Order: sequence, then structure tokens, then C-alpha cells
Amino acid sequence: MELKLPSPVLLTVIIILGLVSINGCNCKIVQFIFGDSLSDVGNNNRLPRSLAKANLPWYGIDFGKGLPNGRFCNGRTVADIIGDEMGLPRPPPFLDPSLTEDMVLENGVNYASGGGGILNETGTYFIQRFSLYKQIELFQGTQELVRKKIGREAADKFFRESRYVVALGSNDFINNFLMPVYSDSWKYNDEGFVAYLTETLQAQLQLLHRLGARQLMVFGLGPMGCIPLQRVLSSSGDCQDRANKLAVSFNEAVSSMLNELSGNLLNATFKFGDAYDVVNDVISNPYKYGFNNSDSPCCSFGNIRPALTCIPASTLCTDRSKYVFWDEYHPTDKANEIVASELIKKFGFLRVNQTEAPSPSPVPGPALAPAPEG
Ligand SMILES: *[C@@H]1O[C@H](CO)[C@@H](O)[C@H](O)[C@H]1NC(C)=O
Ligand SMILES: *[C@@H]1O[C@H](CO)[C@@H](O)[C@H](O)[C@H]1NC(C)=O
Ligand SMILES: *[C@@H]1O[C@H](CO)[C@@H](O)[C@H](O)[C@H]1NC(C)=O
Ligand SMILES: *[C@@H]1O[C@H](CO)[C@@H](O)[C@H](O)[C@H]1NC(C)=O
Repeated sequence: MELKLPSPVLLTVIIILGLVSINGCNCKIVQFIFGDSLSDVGNNNRLPRSLAKANLPWYGIDFGKGLPNGRFCNGRTVADIIGDEMGLPRPPPFLDPSLTEDMVLENGVNYASGGGGILNETGTYFIQRFSLYKQIELFQGTQELVRKKIGREAADKFFRESRYVVALGSNDFINNFLMPVYSDSWKYNDEGFVAYLTETLQAQLQLLHRLGARQLMVFGLGPMGCIPLQRVLSSSGDCQDRANKLAVSFNEAVSSMLNELSGNLLNATFKFGDAYDVVNDVISNPYKYGFNNSDSPCCSFGNIRPALTCIPASTLCTDRSKYVFWDEYHPTDKANEIVASELIKKFGFLRVNQTEAPSPSPVPGPALAPAPEG
């Protein structure tokens, strides 16, 4: 009887293929996004008790089919626009019920949550939200699943080559420090609070580095004292000077912390960028940038200000591309475009070349001119 044994060559091929499929990865470069409502793409809509949701019209009116999708905007977030420019897929929200390991490998994950802050205690007013520590905890869970799926070595490589975005901080001021109901507002003075926030963020970024993050961007704060919600706090309707000064100090402190950190962390490129000056100029000279209004929300409810959120009964401005602000807190798609292009300049990055990824996989060419559609 003749035994048909596989030839040694074939056996080797089979073993190698086997190893590759167990321990290898056709990994693309994807993004993991940590943030607040400026980057949320649907997590809060799935937090049953959250009071900060973008689940009603007219949110999303200029995105895809024009339906609410979880973004606190009429169109795209800054992270959407930057990711598109880099040629990276838009990551689904962590709470997307259809999220699988394959989707993570293909698109990354977005953990951003409206109301979330750098500090755990920020935004308690919204009842339910993911603070940055919680988002990192969820990311660790994602890492565990990916390791089970493709093996530790391939997973380590995948997470090392991924891109990371960390964009929080405004809620730590607007929905914490600047509100007297929060203990942080009387425990710290302005300088002390910025230092506390920066130290906390530093520990969080070091943790992300230990978890494998190597290429990370931190978005700084804009002139948050000029969001419509802050303006209505003063009888004159002017920007809140103290809030703006806090944003500037935060940006300065985080920028120098990141410079130092990026030099100390092995193999890490951690970058800081803010669009404070540009947005400040847009707000002071809206016409110069093609806007017609930079002090009130496009979506508003008659004279009732501040309206907490844009709702179906609200009225919309006639031309959304002429407004800097979409609702009381959040910029429009058009304003986000300006922020994104400023950040792209500051970060100085190039398009991600997917063919340089761990192993080539067919990657659909990203559209050169990203449309507002999802
Ligand atoms: C913040 O929350 C995380 C859980 O999400 C917890 O592990 C951590 O100890 C908390 N940190 C502080 C300072 O309360
Ligand atoms: C840094 O990169 C080198 C070369 O790729 C590698 O050997 C080393 O393990 C890396 N260190 C860390 C902490 O990532
Ligand atoms: C700008 O806004 C004013 C009212 O604030 C309006 O009368 C004018 O038509 C607007 N211009 C454009 C180009 O939208
Ligand atoms: C991407 O990288 C591959 C391999 O290094 C190279 O052949 C290709 O020209 C690059 N493509 C672009 C657009 O830079």
C-alpha cells in the first residue's frame, strides 16, 4: 500500500501558511479615537441613561442620508476630516452592536463620548458618558479580543502601527471646573486646575504608550469662551475671557508636556496641535472666511437660549455653511473643515501609505476629495 505523504516542501508551505494565519495579520493601518462630543460618532446614542445624545433631527442633516448618526454636528467631525485626509477608514463607535474583531482590524474603533472628560468626575451632569480612563479601559478590552483572534505578536504589531487620536478637555472646563456645583471648581485655582488636568492626561498618554500606541495626536482646545452657550452667560453676549484664557493655558501646558513625553517614550511620535488662533480669527472676522455668523447657533429654538440641544422643533439658519456654530456647543461641518486643515498643517503628516503596512492587503483607494457623506 502506497502512503501519500505530503512532500517536505508542501509540508513547509502548509506550516508557514498555518503560522501566518494564526500569528500573522493582513493588517491595515487604522485609527483608535478617544474623545468627547466633538468626536463622538454614536456611542452616547447607545448609552441608555446619557443626557448628551445627538439622536434627533437636525443632527446629521449634511451627512450621508441626512439622518442623526450620533455626531454632534450637521456634518463631519474634525477627526472625520483629518482621517479622510490621511486616507484612513472612519472607525465605528465602540458601542456599534455589529462591531467584531474583523471590523476592528479593518476600521479601528472610536471610543469618544459626549460629556466625557480627561477627569473621571467631569460631566456627571450627563449621568452616563465614557471618561478618558473608561475609554482606555474599553480599548484594553478591544486589544484582548484582537489578541485572541490573531495572536499576541500580530496584535502587538497591529496596535503599534495604528494611529491614535486623543481629543478631550473642553468638558473638564465647561462641565466641571467652571461650574460651581463641581468640587474641582473650589478645590483648585485656574493654574492649579490646568496643572492637575495636564498631569492626568500625561499619565493617560503614558498608559496608552504602555498599551502599544506609538503614533498619537492630541487635539488642543479652541476658544471655548466663545461658544454660543458661554456667550449667553454674559449680558453683553461677549466671549468669556476666563474660559478662553484657560483654553490657552491648557494648550500651552499640554504642548510642552507632549514635547517632553515624546522625547522620553520609546519609538513614540506623540504630537500636539491646536487651532485656537485660527478659530479665534474666524470668530472675530467671520466674513473673511466666508461665514456670516460666528456668535449664535444655526440650530436654535426661537429666543430660548441656551437651548440645551438641537431638537426637531428647532429652526435652522438658511445657510448652514455660513454659520460657525451648529448648536450651543459645537461647530458646523464648515468650521470643522477649517479646524482640521489647521491641525493637519500643525501635525505636518502625510497620507498613510497602506502598502507599507505589515503585509499588503487590497485597500480600496480613498476618495481624493472626501464628500460629507459617511
Ligand atoms: C477613574 O476611573 C477608572 C475607571 O474607569 C478607575 O480605574 C480609576 O481608578 C479612576 N481614577 C480616579 C483618579 O478616580
Ligand atoms: C523600539 O523599536 C525597536 C526597533 O524597532 C525595537 O527593537 C524596540 O523593542 C522598540 N521599543 C519599544 C519600547 O517599543
Ligand atoms: C447674513 O446675515 C444677515 C442677517 O444676519 C442676512 O440679512 C444676510 O442675507 C446674510 N447673508 C448671507 C450671504 O447669508
Ligand atoms: C507606498 O509604499 C510602497 C512600498 O514602499 C511604494 O512602492 C509606493 O510607491 C508608495 N505609494 C505612495 C503613494 O507613496
